[in-house]
Amino acid sequence: MLDEKQIDSLVAFAFAARANAYAPYSKFSVGAAVLMESGEIFTGCNVENASYGLTVCAERTAIVKAVSSGDRKIKAVSVATSRGGTPCGACRQFISEFADPDTIIIVLDVDRDDGERVFSMAQLLPEAFRLS
Ligand code: THU
Repeated sequence: MLDEKQIDSLVAFAFAARANAYAPYSKFSVGAAVLMESGEIFTGCNVENASYGLTVCAERTAIVKAVSSGDRKIKAVSVATSRGGTPCGACRQFISEFADPDTIIIVLDVDRDDGERVFSMAQLLPEAFRLS
């Protein structure tokens, strides 16, 4: 289970990671943080490209950092955007690969003080695609 302190810390990491967003095309900055079962937190931001389709979302940046560091089991995710958008469909599938249906995703609207919403993985991606 997650306590209030872990949630606050994870959200703060997602908020801070947004500052590194490379989003010259959309001008929409996104920060993400993943808390792993190990206790480690990995952060990410969106990284856009002049060839637009190559853009990597903040969530996938953070998860690739975690997995490539040898950390595979996600305990919780936080995403920080203006307007508090939930992870895109591709990122939901990407998170679900390393998460459980009850893993929580905390979505932060950086423009509001009361802008925190909490979802489970199962809510955001019911019937996730799996090979086994
Ligand atoms: N974006 C993310 O980083 N995460 C999402 O879940 C949705 C979209 C980024 C991609 C692009 O750089 C910008 O937001 C606008 O789509």
